[in-house]
Amino acid sequence: MFWRDRTGFLVRNAWLGDVSYMELGPQPIYFLNHPDLIRDMFVTNASKFVKGSAFQRAKHFLGNGLITSDGQFHLRQRRMMQPAFHNARIREYMRPMITYAERMAEEWQDGETRDINREMMHLTLQVVGNALFGAEMRDDADELAEALSTAMNIFNYLQVPFSELLEDLPESQSAEFIEARDTLDRIVGRIIRERRKDGGDRGDLLSMLLMARDEDDGSMMTDEQVRDEAMTLFLAGHETTATAMTWMWYMLSENPDKAEKLHAEIDSVLGTRQPAPEDVMALKYTEAVFAETMRLFPPVWSVGRHVVEDHEIAGYNVPAGSFAMVSQYVMHRDPRFWDEPDSFIPERWEKRSTREASKQFIYFPFGGGVRKCIGEGFSWMEGVTLTSILARKWKLTLDPEQRIGFEPLITLRPKYGMRMKIEAR
Ligand code: HEM
Repeated sequence: MFWRDRTGFLVRNAWLGDVSYMELGPQPIYFLNHPDLIRDMFVTNASKFVKGSAFQRAKHFLGNGLITSDGQFHLRQRRMMQPAFHNARIREYMRPMITYAERMAEEWQDGETRDINREMMHLTLQVVGNALFGAEMRDDADELAEALSTAMNIFNYLQVPFSELLEDLPESQSAEFIEARDTLDRIVGRIIRERRKDGGDRGDLLSMLLMARDEDDGSMMTDEQVRDEAMTLFLAGHETTATAMTWMWYMLSENPDKAEKLHAEIDSVLGTRQPAPEDVMALKYTEAVFAETMRLFPPVWSVGRHVVEDHEIAGYNVPAGSFAMVSQYVMHRDPRFWDEPDSFIPERWEKRSTREASKQFIYFPFGGGVRKCIGEGFSWMEGVTLTSILARKWKLTLDPEQRIGFEPLITLRPKYGMRMKIEAR
């Protein structure tokens, strides 16, 4: 049942109560469906919940980056990388967001139909690639993009809850992946070596990784570590945002009154000029549209952890070796915490801030605790910037033939793509 309809399966499980239990082969699994229990896993007792063996397997491919590492090593890396995501720095990354969104807005033609999911994947790949590597990305962009999308497909597969319980990856896929990894290795390795020679801060993420120092002992990352972190950011930073953007266009098409309100805000705040960092704060409705989309279609729709110590959860004894699971998709639509949970109502964010809802763990598109998404600030800025530039010029309407469905791997992908008609406003 889980494999047939993953989100539906969890929704039905939630009817059983705040904690439900299932077994997959020999694996005991606990599904936690109350904000207090979710906080317990992410924050209060985080040390008892670690990333599972799927992540250990991902290490073969992804190296030991922020997503796959654990324990003290993860904390050290996280400390060293945090400054690269401080507000002042994120403002720098707005430049590629504007450049590539403007380019896409110029390229689209009135009346044509495009797969908006592909468009958004392409756009966010360019943005994160450029935020990471600056100008060097340009020469190898196509080769990098192709290698990355192969890597992402397999990475996605590896991250599905319980994938470690399935049969091994088919050989051909592994070979394909290794080839993609070698390409990434070669290009990223060359860029790192050239940078080490030149030194200096070029304002991109790679510069920050190369300059980062451990505050305890002053040590820096090895080239290999910089590579692992760069690949991790590349992978983690593009499909998530693209998925959110795709569902957002779909929601706007289904709710034309909300689309009109969005267009009116963009016209009044920006007129015909490009957005500046200050505008991102002023585009409140645009941000609410992005937030509401991630409530209904959280790009990361569930998170799993291995329980490493016996632990009591809501009166149940959960033994070490169990698997614990929480779901953004289910909690974000829980009628106990949301009025009209299945309706797209960006206005609800006028009364409730995303920060407050995240603290309560009724809304956690970016996870929580020490493993909360390091790219959260980047993503809010990216969502608002890309939307404001594209929607300033264009209105998108769903192709009537388009089927809608989920392919929930690590991200909540639209199963059949998202063909939409593009019309000038
Ligand atoms: C809408 C966009 C995004 C969403 C919804 C999202 C969601 C998440 C979630 C839920 C986690 C926690 C996973 C867990 O607890 O197992 C996470 C972790 C992470 N994300 Fe994001 N993410 C987004 C964009 C980004 C971007 C733009 C970057 C980088 C540029 C990024 C980099 C990372 C990294 C490195 C981690 C691992 C953090 C750690 O374990 O310390 N993400 N993300």
